[in-house]
Amino acid sequence: MNTRPISHLIEPQYALEGAGVLLRRSIAPLASNEFDPFLLFDHFAFNDPLEGPIRGFPMHPHRGIETVTYMLEGSVSHRDSLGNAGLISAGDVQWMTSGRGILHEEMPRRSEQSGVIYGFQLWVNLPAAQKMGQPRYQEVNASTIPSVTKDGATVRVVAGTWEGTRGPVTEISASPLYLDVRLDPASRFVCPVPSGHTALAYVFEGRGKFSGAEVESVRMIEFGDGDQIEVQTEAEGVQFMLMAGKPFKEPIVPYGPFVMNTVEEIQQTLIELRNGTFIK
Ligand code: FE2
Repeated sequence: MNTRPISHLIEPQYALEGAGVLLRRSIAPLASNEFDPFLLFDHFAFNDPLEGPIRGFPMHPHRGIETVTYMLEGSVSHRDSLGNAGLISAGDVQWMTSGRGILHEEMPRRSEQSGVIYGFQLWVNLPAAQKMGQPRYQEVNASTIPSVTKDGATVRVVAGTWEGTRGPVTEISASPLYLDVRLDPASRFVCPVPSGHTALAYVFEGRGKFSGAEVESVRMIEFGDGDQIEVQTEAEGVQFMLMAGKPFKEPIVPYGPFVMNTVEEIQQTLIELRNGTFIK
């Protein structure tokens, strides 16, 4: 097996989103599409338990993408233009395929025990042929996400397969792997990733050796090509989200919460929003 080297280390930048939510952003949608099929990765963890009311993400549209919300602490209450409403709690994942259009509201809530909100939102692109498809949700309760332990690694498999265990999120165009990985000190984690797929790791706690190179949190790692990811720990453990997927290799035109393939498709989206035909 050929271990993928680190190609880039990205330091997350603070960003204000929604109605003023402070978050750490590692990647954002750009026409260069370097992380194809991934578009954005946000880490919301900066709500001081002592600060005032939490600002969230009031009603906003999406088209042409999938948004993936994964909570470690606290929760997100959501509702949308299709009539869905619910709570994404700690350990749950919501994989939302916007297709041609959805309007939704996402409001973070503190953990009742710790007062903390800690979670991630990943945006995954859709291929041109799926961008105007039906909106779809996969709401996955924490209890149905399998957890596998091997060699000091505890892995929650959200999507894709690790050590023969398949995650509950399926039928996604990007053929994604999405794992929540915790490594004890003095442990080892190996995961095959098909050559040609994009692979990223968001290291949010501790430190570890990724492909032999020491990386300390908080960093997003972009891996070069190869067919496996290898991580080892020494005195300290590490926690990271590992994501990989098949690039679509199509041009993209990102505009706020929309990611389409042409400028005309973005213009059409804005016309539909203005004349009230965005939601069909
Ligand atoms: Fe959203």
